[in-house]
Amino acid sequence: MELSAVIATRRSIRKFKPEEISEDTVKELIEAARLAPSGSNLQPARFIVAKSPQAKESIGKFTPYKFIVKAAVIFVCLADLTTITTRETRVGELFKEGAFDGVEMDMSDPSAATPVMDDSMVKAYLSMNTAIAIEHIVLKAVDLGLGSCWIGRFNREKLKDFLKLDGNIYPVMLLPVGLPDQSPKARPRFNIDKYILRTI
Ligand SMILES: Cc1cc2nc3c(=O)[nH]c(=O)nc-3n(C[C@H](O)[C@H](O)[C@H](O)COP(=O)(O)O)c2cc1C
Repeated sequence: MELSAVIATRRSIRKFKPEEISEDTVKELIEAARLAPSGSNLQPARFIVAKSPQAKESIGKFTPYKFIVKAAVIFVCLADLTTITTRETRVGELFKEGAFDGVEMDMSDPSAATPVMDDSMVKAYLSMNTAIAIEHIVLKAVDLGLGSCWIGRFNREKLKDFLKLDGNIYPVMLLPVGLPDQSPKARPRFNIDKYILRTI
């Protein structure tokens, strides 16, 4: 599908048909996430793919949104917090690959240096990066005739316990994906003027 059409027709889907989706389709979706940009190319996004009815049922207990159990798969979208320690390596790779060849950089202002982040800033920063990968899945799903819905409201602690997640793996979102069983109308959006605070 053409990108503008994907963006314009995407909706949050909260009703799914019972059809399953293939392993190849799951791979295509994860591939879209893999190609997402990330700050310093840290690539913090990780996914657990819940496909079995039992796994989906269990994950469904950690959110008020019971419809997610009906999706073909639930992507548990995670951020690997250890990636923040790999910044030097990743940036080194970028330099080696020529990403900054011919790019003029003025490093004389110390306030423009890489910021020191506390734990909550790291979590927010890596969650933001993971969100970009999630939206790649969301858009690719539309391209493949599928629907999805971001789910931010869930009990992270209980989910972490259930999945026995390492303390360095932070649950960012749940993303149920499947064949849509509804065609919702476009939801309200502010007028475009509200988005542009100022042109300078
Ligand atoms: C970060 C984020 C968190 C969201 N969390 C939830 C959620 O917990 N439950 C839900 O039903 N929808 C959730 N949504 C979907 C929004 O409600 C939806 O995007 C918004 O109402 C606009 O509708 P549309 O996606 O159909 O355009 C979330 C969306 C985003 C981007």
